[in-house]
Amino acid sequence: MNFKQRREDFPTLRLEDTPAYLDNACVTLKPDSVVDAVQEYYLVNPACGGRSVHRYGTKVSQGVRTARSNIASFINAEANSEVVFTRNATHSLNQVAHGLEWNEGDVVLTTDREHNSNLVPWLQLEKEQGIDHRVVASKPDNTFDLETFEAACADAGSKLKLVSMGHVGNLDGVCLPIKEITKITHDHGALMCVDGAQSTPHMKVDVKALDIDFLAFSLHKMCGPSGMGALWGRYDLLDGLRTIQAGGQTVQSATYDSFEWAPPPGRFEGGLGNFAGMLASGAAVEYLSEFDMDAIKEHEIKLNRIMSKPIRDLDAVDIIGPEDPALRGGICSILMNELPTHDIAILLDEVAGVMVRSGQHCVHSWFHDRGHPNGSLRASAYFYNTEEEAKLFADTFEEAVQAFS
Ligand SMILES: Cc1ncc(COP(=O)(O)O)c(C=O)c1O
Repeated sequence: MNFKQRREDFPTLRLEDTPAYLDNACVTLKPDSVVDAVQEYYLVNPACGGRSVHRYGTKVSQGVRTARSNIASFINAEANSEVVFTRNATHSLNQVAHGLEWNEGDVVLTTDREHNSNLVPWLQLEKEQGIDHRVVASKPDNTFDLETFEAACADAGSKLKLVSMGHVGNLDGVCLPIKEITKITHDHGALMCVDGAQSTPHMKVDVKALDIDFLAFSLHKMCGPSGMGALWGRYDLLDGLRTIQAGGQTVQSATYDSFEWAPPPGRFEGGLGNFAGMLASGAAVEYLSEFDMDAIKEHEIKLNRIMSKPIRDLDAVDIIGPEDPALRGGICSILMNELPTHDIAILLDEVAGVMVRSGQHCVHSWFHDRGHPNGSLRASAYFYNTEEEAKLFADTFEEAVQAFS
């Protein structure tokens, strides 16, 4: 697959002197078809889908149906009705957390490398409803420890209700063996929720093959419009989930003193939706469906090798995660130790047009626990990034570290 050619699909990458955009773990750039879908909604038929039966409304309803179907096919869902449009992965995870029924002492397991979006909802439930959130320690190189996990499941016993884990870490790019984790989880009679924010855009994610119960992800990390996410859940589980936003669209009917819920996904999409976002999400997934997702993963690893090689030898900094870039996907996250992380990130952009992310990447818990207030500087690649951009990042970073050391 010629990824370089696909740069032509992106308005920002067609500009002269385009920067080396390496902040894709946060949001990706948007191809023409996604921008066009947003524009078409606002310029041609900016109406309400799902309810209004005039021509504008019908066009939006049809577009939303197609978008949902595109997403369902992309993750190999059993049915379109298993896909709920949300604002982002955070919204999706909160819908699971606050939608399940909890008893005091129910155990939820996460890893020690979770994004706040897959940590804080559980901490909130612990505080408000008395669940028992437990953290499964990773190995020293941040890879998953199946033995420790199995022991944690056994220790929780019949109290284990849910395992909720990030498929790929935004901290370090480490990918979890979700299929094995799910098997163990189900053997213990618990449910498996996967935070797919960093996996769904970068590799083939097949909910049936993984045999999971919930998948949360963000469309804005996979060429889609900002402020759009999705929650996939097995239909029977969605059907038993309490909605966190009741109102229009969420009921079949209501009287002054009663109501009847609408079936999923409508039950979880209360109020007038972000139709431009839904239509453009459909366009994004249609665009990505043209790609071989395995090839995207391989391309990102190739770029990560280029980024990681010279940085590994620098004394002042350390790459977070395993040494082998193949185990870190497209993410090269560098622990800055004593160096000024944000200053170096600004310098990379000003001097060389290299855009990266600096800070704690919403994984405060990991940095706090290990005493690293400066956080990390993270370069994260996507299919449109080139080997030249990866090299530019590595060279400029090396110079900046030497200048500040
Ligand atoms: C692993 C992971 N989970 C969850 C999120 C939250 O995603 P969103 O901002 O779409 O809610 C992110 C965002 O960076 C992430 O990387």
